[in-house]
Amino acid sequence: MEEIEIIKPDDWHVHFRDNEILKAVVPETTRHFARSIVMPNLTPPIVSSKQATEYKKRIQKAIPTTDEFDPLMTLYLTEKTNKNELKSAFKNGDIFAVKLYPAGATTNSDSGVKDIKKIMPVLEVMTEIGIPLLIHGEVTDKEVDIFDREKVFIDQKLDFICKELPELRITLEHITTKEATLYVSEGNENLAASITPHHLALNRNSIFVGGIKPHNYCLPILKREIHRKALLKVATTDNVKFFLGTDTAPHLLNDKESACGCAGVFNSTYCLSILAQLFDNENALPQLENFISKNGAKHYHLEVNKEKITLIKSSQNLTFKKYLNVNDQKIKIFEPDFPVFWKVAE
Ligand code: DOR
Ligand code: ZN
Repeated sequence: MEEIEIIKPDDWHVHFRDNEILKAVVPETTRHFARSIVMPNLTPPIVSSKQATEYKKRIQKAIPTTDEFDPLMTLYLTEKTNKNELKSAFKNGDIFAVKLYPAGATTNSDSGVKDIKKIMPVLEVMTEIGIPLLIHGEVTDKEVDIFDREKVFIDQKLDFICKELPELRITLEHITTKEATLYVSEGNENLAASITPHHLALNRNSIFVGGIKPHNYCLPILKREIHRKALLKVATTDNVKFFLGTDTAPHLLNDKESACGCAGVFNSTYCLSILAQLFDNENALPQLENFISKNGAKHYHLEVNKEKITLIKSSQNLTFKKYLNVNDQKIKIFEPDFPVFWKVAE
């Protein structure tokens, strides 16, 4: 048996949804993580500080009494976002960050941003007072191939924002390409990126080979193996600009296994086991704590957590529970296609 003790991790990108799904999924995150940045793409989206505060209360009610957990709330950026309201929401601590969805890029993003120029005055205010900008980095133009949408976003949109506002703290979320790893590594020091466990574990074959696999469909879509390798390289080497954001995104089974299935992988349940295995496979376990517990806190100017967790490697591989129940419905739990020997000591 092998054991490692590390600082308790944070998940810098989660979808908790609302109502019954929220109650079912929140404990899957709070069991192992101390803090999370919570995405605002509900229907209707979280566009005001009042909505964010009420949503936070619903999340807090779903946290088991045995867990200590801090949900960090975000506001959904639209072309109508009011600068002054944003300023006071941030100063009051009602919101932690702002999320930019290009309109139409993903689940519930229709109220997102069509024209980046229209939000520049809001981004200037965010730069002045230090509100982080979280970006879903994909263009939505029909002519652009879905596998190229991240790269084109970086070239056409992100580079513009970074050059106009080098002091703005930006997270390019759930990156999926080698180009993104290079752009962020070489970019200004306020630019960082989050990476999901599923983009570290799978390449695009996992969606199509042997039959279509709707549970591996997410956005940005999985890419070629060279991209997965590039992500794994920056995650497992000593680069402070990359950290965990699981993008755990629950959808009910019927909504995934459908003629028009939803994008999203629900990965919180075994996330730490999977990551420990991936890092172990790369002989990079000493880097795990940086990726899951330190680099994100540094980017967001927060202290690292005081608590610790222990990960244990056993000789027997883990048996994954297949589903999380939501009343009489269920959500598929992410399981990679390699054996996992690590688990979190309870
Ligand atoms: O796969 C995804 N699912 N990507 C996103 O950007 C959104 C998320 C969701 O909300 O389901
Ligand atoms: Zn997301």
